[in-house]
Amino acid sequence: MVKKNTTKTGKKKTPSTVAATKRKVQTAAKSKAKEPIEEVKAQDPKAAEVIVETLPKATVQEELPETAPVEAAAEEPSVTEPVEAAAEEPSVAESVEVAVEEPSVAEPVEAAAEEAPAAESVEAAMEEAPAEEPVEAAAEETPVAEPVEAVAEETPVAEPVEAAAEESSVAEPVEAAAEEPSVTEPEEAAVPEEVYMSPRRSVAFIGSECYPFVKTGGLGDVMYALPKALVKQNCDVKVILPRYKCIPWEYQQKMIYRGSFEMDLCADGRSFYVGIMEYVWDGVVYDFIDNEEFFSNGNPYTNLIDDIPKYCYFAKAALAALNYMDWIPNIIHCHDWQAALVPVYLRTQFVNTKLTTAKTILTIHNLRFQGIYNIPTIRYWSGLPDYVFNKDALVTGWIDANMLKGGLTYSNIITTVSQTYAGEIQSPYYGEGLDAHLRYHSGKLRGIVNGIDYDIWNPYTDARLHANYDITNVLDKKKENKRKLQEELGLVQDDHKFVIGLISRLTNQKGLDLVNAILPQVMDEHTQIVVLGTGDWVYEDSFRYYEGAYKGNVCSNIMYDETRAHRIYAGADALLVPSQFEPCGLTQLIAMHYGTIPIVRETGGLKDTVEPYNMYFNTGNGFTFDYYDAGLLLDAINRAKTFYFENRWCWDEMVQRDMDKDLSWENSAKQYKDLYLDLTW
Ligand code: ADP
Ligand code: GLC
Repeated sequence: MVKKNTTKTGKKKTPSTVAATKRKVQTAAKSKAKEPIEEVKAQDPKAAEVIVETLPKATVQEELPETAPVEAAAEEPSVTEPVEAAAEEPSVAESVEVAVEEPSVAEPVEAAAEEAPAAESVEAAMEEAPAEEPVEAAAEETPVAEPVEAVAEETPVAEPVEAAAEESSVAEPVEAAAEEPSVTEPEEAAVPEEVYMSPRRSVAFIGSECYPFVKTGGLGDVMYALPKALVKQNCDVKVILPRYKCIPWEYQQKMIYRGSFEMDLCADGRSFYVGIMEYVWDGVVYDFIDNEEFFSNGNPYTNLIDDIPKYCYFAKAALAALNYMDWIPNIIHCHDWQAALVPVYLRTQFVNTKLTTAKTILTIHNLRFQGIYNIPTIRYWSGLPDYVFNKDALVTGWIDANMLKGGLTYSNIITTVSQTYAGEIQSPYYGEGLDAHLRYHSGKLRGIVNGIDYDIWNPYTDARLHANYDITNVLDKKKENKRKLQEELGLVQDDHKFVIGLISRLTNQKGLDLVNAILPQVMDEHTQIVVLGTGDWVYEDSFRYYEGAYKGNVCSNIMYDETRAHRIYAGADALLVPSQFEPCGLTQLIAMHYGTIPIVRETGGLKDTVEPYNMYFNTGNGFTFDYYDAGLLLDAINRAKTFYFENRWCWDEMVQRDMDKDLSWENSAKQYKDLYLDLTW
């Protein structure tokens, strides 16, 4: 039985308790601040540093202006700023706006932030944990001015042709950035002590999309939410992205120029401009690689003829930019084929740069997309040495090169986004031609399931909803959201109808041929279907057809629309995810958090996150089927429908159970952090 007024995490989940906890931490910090800080500093400078760390930024600036030197800022462009603001912001829309209005510049808090244990244990921690030092140590050991020149000599990378590179050190652009007009800093954050006890690690995330700048699917969600969650695990995170022209102007205009250089790319030495534009938000630093030639298209992805050169360039430019900024992370975490050449470049053309100390992780979000093209084209555009074009690395079949395959070979660790998918992709059915390669590398393959960002996906604060709700009033408020959704979409307005949502890219990965096959059998006078998606014309057309055929009870929204997605999650009773394969899947997670029951196929992350309903024990989170078969999907939908109409009491319990399930990033971010620590001890 679900307790209706509490959640598993008890009071901590309610906004008022969160605020109370924060107040306690702030009060504690302020009471320490009452001691004249200078006095403490004279007696015990380390203790003073720790106190300063716990003070609100304004207090730090007031009392110890000299402790935040600009140089420190230059060395530490990004410092964790775990986000209190997010908890206080009532709505996604609002928090985005606030962030846009007040982007924060990388915060030069001091070295103490790197170590964060309690005051007494600072020294001990410093002795015991040398692994925390690599970035700074590296910077100290080598004169800062050397790297760029060295890079230019030893590799065709980041050829810093212009004056900047010749006279200058890598650090220069960073200092320049530190002088940029600084923007309002985020508010002080209450970080749990256990997080500070975990050694700090710096991580560069490299990927092709990231909410809210550009998103076509779940990768965009993960690239936004995971770095944010890692900041809370004491990580210093930089996210490197292409500066696509389609990024909304509201973000483009807030980016700060960090520098630029010319970079050799192609086999014939052709070089390209690399600009770095920076934006800091929620403690995460976003560095956008700027080049109009590659990124001026309307969409991030167009066709392989354009995309292959684009992502060869992006992978190399991302590393060259890190070198240029002299930001040497402990971990370089790459995502999908678009960033898969990063580990290959790192172990070839960047092997003599400081970056070589970094360990690499390549996360597979979707094995179907691999970046395959003929060998001469990839060889030309990547400029990679001939020896990587062999069967163990990039070559696949007789004539093709495979960028993802190369990345899998050269990365230290491979992860994918659920444990089940990690197993599945080693079989021919799910392996997309790489199963043998993945079995060979299975020793370094792990599965870590995705979470969802609770600031964005929170029915209690979601400003896009007609009626906000939590576990205590979901049953009433969901009805209200359902009625509004029906009204907005021109459906028959009726509380008693069973509304099934489907929010998806319309591709064959998502099991839409099964849906098409059985939709007429699902439709009866008690049922409505709401589809939201874009993709293959064959699915777009068939859903349009069904909308006409079942007017007033089927609505096909052939479009990409965030607001509509939020409203469907809140207003539907069930959400359909009958995928042929699903590495993780976020829609079933969001649905559960919004009290909408998932109906899913038992594959990949769907299997790991949706426990099938067990009528004997009255447990489980949704309705599932195993084989990829239209009849089994129909059966699962009918079971859900019968349960909804005939056993509403138990259905309602499941709604609350789903809302109560921990689907946040916290657990998974901890697993990534452990992986980072394992790799860098
Ligand atoms: P995938 O990455 O394979 O597309 P996921 O389930 O991991 O699938 O993530 C899909 C993400 O994209 C979710 O955040 C979902 O809400 C969103 N989404 C998919 N289609 C649309 C759409 N047409 N409009 C708005 N959001 C969409
Ligand atoms: C991919 C997968 C999806 C996963 C998402 C984020 O697009 O298709 O299952 O949730 O990436 O990892």
